[in-house]
Amino acid sequence: MAQIVAGIGCSHVPAIGVALDLGKTQDEYWKDVFKGFERTKELIAEIKPDLIIEIYNDHGTAFSLKSIPTFSLGVAAEFKPADEGWGPRPVPVVKGDPDFAWYLAESLILNEFDMTIMNEIEVDHGLTVPLSLLFGQPKEWPCPVIPICVNVVTYPSPTGKRCFALGRAIRKAVQEYKKDLRVVVLGTGGMSHQIHGERCGLINRSWDESFLDRLSSDPQGLTEIPLVEYVRETGAEGIEMVMWLIMRGALDEDVEEAYRFYHVPASNTAVGNIVLTNRSQTKVTT
Ligand code: DHB
Ligand code: FE
Repeated sequence: MAQIVAGIGCSHVPAIGVALDLGKTQDEYWKDVFKGFERTKELIAEIKPDLIIEIYNDHGTAFSLKSIPTFSLGVAAEFKPADEGWGPRPVPVVKGDPDFAWYLAESLILNEFDMTIMNEIEVDHGLTVPLSLLFGQPKEWPCPVIPICVNVVTYPSPTGKRCFALGRAIRKAVQEYKKDLRVVVLGTGGMSHQIHGERCGLINRSWDESFLDRLSSDPQGLTEIPLVEYVRETGAEGIEMVMWLIMRGALDEDVEEAYRFYHVPASNTAVGNIVLTNRSQTKVTT
């Protein structure tokens, strides 16, 4: 049977991808960011997932204001990196798993989560930057990735509570899948940041740190945070953190925090990363 072994939360700042692609990881500005991900890279190498379900948002790249699905799911065999204005990132094409993805679509939709199905989608920094942070610069990504895309670009985004419930539905689907797969759920975006307007550059370290603490100690409490609090306290783009609650909902009650990293600044964003393992499933040696 398939099982979810770990959940990872990870920022997706596009400039991190650019720094990596242009060989600037040891520059003064960037070296601590990349150093902070070394432990996560070791942990994911130990965990060795067979499949990643990656929760991300499109930033007006593949979707536009013409259509804005709240939750969507990629069922294609592959997803090409998108051209976000300076050419596609030089990273491997993301391979999907259509059998699993269609199974997941069926399970979620019959479980009353009305996912939009994406037969074709190019993926932007929201999806590719976390893969780079976890796996560096391989010729191929080490396992298939199922993209789940969430609208956090145009109000109203789904609530934290709804996101957590989607995580629970993903967990049920995975647990009922007949193949032996070790699955990692990767929630991307955040942490505090605002990239436009008068409050551009806003960072809220204490709010972010409390969010990281409560992912282990009080996940249900986190689901009560109203959308307006994310925006007020963490900036307009801090709303991306609701995607971490999908990841958290997919895990058991009882998790172990294997690692966390927090760094300010990277571009306009507080970079956050957390690795949570299901105590029942994996023992990761720290
Ligand atoms: C930045 C951060 C993001 O999450 C994003 O999607 C775009 C830009 C930034 O800090 O520059
Ligand atoms: Fe973003």
